[in-house]
Amino acid sequence: MENMGALLDKDRKVTRSLTKHRERRTQIQEQLAQFPRVQLANLPTPLEPLPRLTDALEGPQIFVKRDDLTGLAFGGNKTRQLEFVMAHALQAKPEVLVTGANIQSNWSRQATAAAVKMGIPIVLVLRNSDMQEIQGNVLLDLWMGAEVHFVNEPDMTRMQQHIDDMVAELRAQGKRAFKLDSWSPLTAIAYVNMMCELQAQCDAQNISPTRLWLAAAGPTQAGIVLGARLLDWNLRVTGVAPLRWTNAPMQDITADVANQAAEMLGADVRIAPSEIEDLDNYIGAGYAIPLREGLEAMRLAARTDALLLDPVYTSKAMAGLIDHVKRGELTRDDTVIFLHTGGSPANFAYRDALVGMSKL
Ligand SMILES: Cc1ncc(COP(=O)(O)O)c(C=O)c1O
Repeated sequence: MENMGALLDKDRKVTRSLTKHRERRTQIQEQLAQFPRVQLANLPTPLEPLPRLTDALEGPQIFVKRDDLTGLAFGGNKTRQLEFVMAHALQAKPEVLVTGANIQSNWSRQATAAAVKMGIPIVLVLRNSDMQEIQGNVLLDLWMGAEVHFVNEPDMTRMQQHIDDMVAELRAQGKRAFKLDSWSPLTAIAYVNMMCELQAQCDAQNISPTRLWLAAAGPTQAGIVLGARLLDWNLRVTGVAPLRWTNAPMQDITADVANQAAEMLGADVRIAPSEIEDLDNYIGAGYAIPLREGLEAMRLAARTDALLLDPVYTSKAMAGLIDHVKRGELTRDDTVIFLHTGGSPANFAYRDALVGMSKL
């Protein structure tokens, strides 16, 4: 048994480190407050334990940060990002906003919701190379009044060019068109802010995570890694890729966004690509194609803690987490926070895969 002196000493150390955390957060939040921001998100999102999933896996203690509950037409990680990206766009006094990505793009659905709330029309350019039916996210886009243009583009990396072309076309027609940029460093800045929020929650709930696990295609992980660095938080961040970009490796792209965000924040730090942990072995047959282990992960999460994942992003991230537990790379010594980045509307476009999964 520890004696009274040792206990008091431990207490003092904890208090000192909590105070240090708070001071650091205040400094970062003062920097963040300089950026224009529109209020779109319900924050803070809950940080919840997953006791039954933790038991089922017999590995690390697992918590979930519920960024699927940020709000704005079904929520997701994009709500936080749009608070900053939309505020920036508004400065240009746009008559019409333009964005896009894949047909089941969560970004586009949330951008549409944000545009509607600002009272500005939005044009979406969506990749639909295999003529998918109108369901899930794209149904919500149309429901909220987006003008949707489909393009037959096999390469996701080239979608930005199609969006830029649409902006140019609208401007040529004399409209003040502005792109909502899903790659803006402001998206990473939103996740620096999330890291401040998460650390405050961990401190309040007495949780000392060793790992943060997420589905990551670039900007969200960029903000998280930068946030951890600015907070001096020794937390290993693992991103599970839903796709491979064809223009550059994920690590390079992510580090680049993180460094642009650091510059905007006036922070004298650089993130090297080697600091970005990216697992690209849970993509399976390709972007937006469900992975068998992902479907199994969805089934387990749903039937243990009623946690509903999505087939494109979070299921693949959870499949990676479960695989790492099975391989002994995540152990009982770890405490893992799984960032739920949302994506639930896409499920309705994957009815057949989900029916199959339910019978697994
Ligand atoms: C549900 C979901 N999770 C994760 C991501 C990855 O976010 P980011 O592109 O910011 O890395 C996205 C979007 O790309 C998403 O829609």
